[in-house]
Amino acid sequence: MVQRILVIGSSNTDMVVKANKLPAPGETVIGGTFLMNPGGKGANQAVAAARLGADVTFVAKVGNDIFGKQAIQGFRQDKIRTEFVFSDAKNPSGVALIGVDEQGENCIMVAPGANAHLLAYEVVQALESVSEAELLLLQLEIPLQTVTAAVEHGAKRGLKIILNPAPAQPLPNEIYANLFAITPNETETKLLTGITVEAHDLGSLREAAEWFLAKGLKNVIITLGAKGAFLYNEEGGKLIAAPPVTATDTTAAGDVFNGALVVALSETKSLSEAVTFACKAASISVTRMGAQASVPTRKEVDALSLSNVTKP
Ligand code: RIB
Repeated sequence: MVQRILVIGSSNTDMVVKANKLPAPGETVIGGTFLMNPGGKGANQAVAAARLGADVTFVAKVGNDIFGKQAIQGFRQDKIRTEFVFSDAKNPSGVALIGVDEQGENCIMVAPGANAHLLAYEVVQALESVSEAELLLLQLEIPLQTVTAAVEHGAKRGLKIILNPAPAQPLPNEIYANLFAITPNETETKLLTGITVEAHDLGSLREAAEWFLAKGLKNVIITLGAKGAFLYNEEGGKLIAAPPVTATDTTAAGDVFNGALVVALSETKSLSEAVTFACKAASISVTRMGAQASVPTRKEVDALSLSNVTKP
């Protein structure tokens, strides 16, 4: 049975320029065309989950301005429930300035605005009201105190909680035991565990995953970009490959991965199947420009042939 998904997180408007290369400090680079499209890690994940077929409630805070209004309109077009997208009278909507190079790699600066004012009591209010929700997805682009309150409250309610620790910052130890899964990329894994991981070095991936398990986590999914993802739990480890694609813009690939992952979990797919589904969705997204503009439909993901699964 498909379950209701609650996504709590940020909403931004992304201002994107694609250029041959990203500027060094003090350098001006002349780029190509400018793209403005909706973004924010939380909103991207909510949109991905909704576009891939889930019933999503998004909890966020936007400014009482044109960007905030456009964001809410977009969520509604994607059939996301917006009763807990709060409007902040004092602070503007979040904005991200994004540079994308020829290889699709990006560089992002965020002015969080209203995102930084999403408060613990507001997310707890949402968690109490959406009693049908069974899965909760969060990231770290809103105050950490708000995230920890949501995790604590969600765990008490018995929700399956997935934390995408992006952008990375040190986390309190108590958070881990309340999570069903954590989904860091290589950089975030290094910041949280102190261990440098590389896709070709299964030993390093296992070591980092064991670090999380020792903290009380049940499932660890380390995303590896074009190389796919490493899934680890007490049953062992598995490298799950992503379908090969040519990247145009990798912005929000991690967000699409997380949105897709929770959709698959809500459909009671196995973790391994869910990660494969998420790798496919993320691979499609990097072939297109933009964050929410790049999120694929369910039909597109289902049409992509299955990736290889190799066991270490
Ligand atoms: O993960 C990509 C997102 O990070 C962008 O959409 C930008 O808004 C920042 O939040």
